[in-house]
Amino acid sequence: MSNLILDKFDKNKINEDAVPIWLMRQAGRYLPEYKKIRSKNKDFINFCLNVKDSSEVTLQPIERFNFDAAIIFSDILLVNYAAGQDVKFKENFGPVLKKLDNKAFLAIEKNIFIDKLSNCYKAIRNVRNLLHKDKTLIGFAGSPWTLLVYALNLKSPKNEFNMDCKEDVILELLNKFINLVSWHCIEQIKNGADVIQLFDSWAGIIKRENLSLFCENPNKKIIENIKRVYPCVPVICFPRNIKDNINSFVANVKPDGISIDFNTNIEKLDIDSNVVCQGGMRPDLLTADNESEIINEAKKYLDFFKNKRYIFNLGHGVLPHTKIKNVEKLVNFVKNY
Ligand code: CP3
Repeated sequence: MSNLILDKFDKNKINEDAVPIWLMRQAGRYLPEYKKIRSKNKDFINFCLNVKDSSEVTLQPIERFNFDAAIIFSDILLVNYAAGQDVKFKENFGPVLKKLDNKAFLAIEKNIFIDKLSNCYKAIRNVRNLLHKDKTLIGFAGSPWTLLVYALNLKSPKNEFNMDCKEDVILELLNKFINLVSWHCIEQIKNGADVIQLFDSWAGIIKRENLSLFCENPNKKIIENIKRVYPCVPVICFPRNIKDNINSFVANVKPDGISIDFNTNIEKLDIDSNVVCQGGMRPDLLTADNESEIINEAKKYLDFFKNKRYIFNLGHGVLPHTKIKNVEKLVNFVKNY
């Protein structure tokens, strides 16, 4: 058997029937084996930078569910941390950041930044050595806009969003994030990541008239920076919740893959057939006791993307109350459909 996910991106290979599957946030609190290791690590950033523990939780969902890809256990906010912004994770609240020092942030140098994340790259090397060659190792980063939202809002915008900032300052900070994220992705590939996914989780709150400046351009520039060094490594973009703007996003950014959220109207998708589609299914279904609904929803995506290059995934991350037996059913169903 070959690497199912890398094959989907290989235009010289015919699109085989098998649909590979992995899930965003596949490592996490719904797994008892994760909670056990998490409880020994009080500080979440230090946990991500603990080579042994982060490697182990990266591999846990592969061992349990036999997913086709591992995604390195880390967090998008490690980029803010490595750029000098203090980040803490508060239980039942999420990330809490200290006010950004713009001048220090803009001055951060590549060597210092990369050095602070060296354990993340060591974990990637370690996981790639332990992972079967048929399995893909996914590296990732937050996209500049999403990282800027956390950098200025100082917490998740889920409940409250206040980003009072002039456009020229926003663009200056976004430019710096473009460099930081590019360095981080290139370093992950250098150490063994086979694919990169860019999470623009808060792209959906950008006004339509700013979408190209704040979302499309930064994602596009990062892809260009990666391709200059690693032309063959696929990059998947996840511009969450941008609705029908997904079509212009794909046309302008030209990613190798596009991850769709559960609000994406798949009937209205109008993208280049060479672009690999990923995801879509509602993650909340996996927390309930309704097997038939899970199967019907999975079937909807598998049937729609039949004969297209498709990677099964959810439309957002696995939720903490997800039932393990539901994930087992889903994987089984997708692999045998
Ligand atoms: O997918 C994976 O299994 C790999 C690991 C991963 C994590 N975060 C670990 C994590 C990935 C890919 C992320 C991405 C991430 N982090 C995003 C983009 C995807 C998305 O959800 O939109 C965002 C916005 C973040 C920022 C973040 N990290 C938030 C808002 C939170 C708190 C919310 C929560 O679920 O608790 C985190 C913490 C976090 N990152 C956890 C995990 C497993 C939970 C921390 C814990 O164990 O207590």
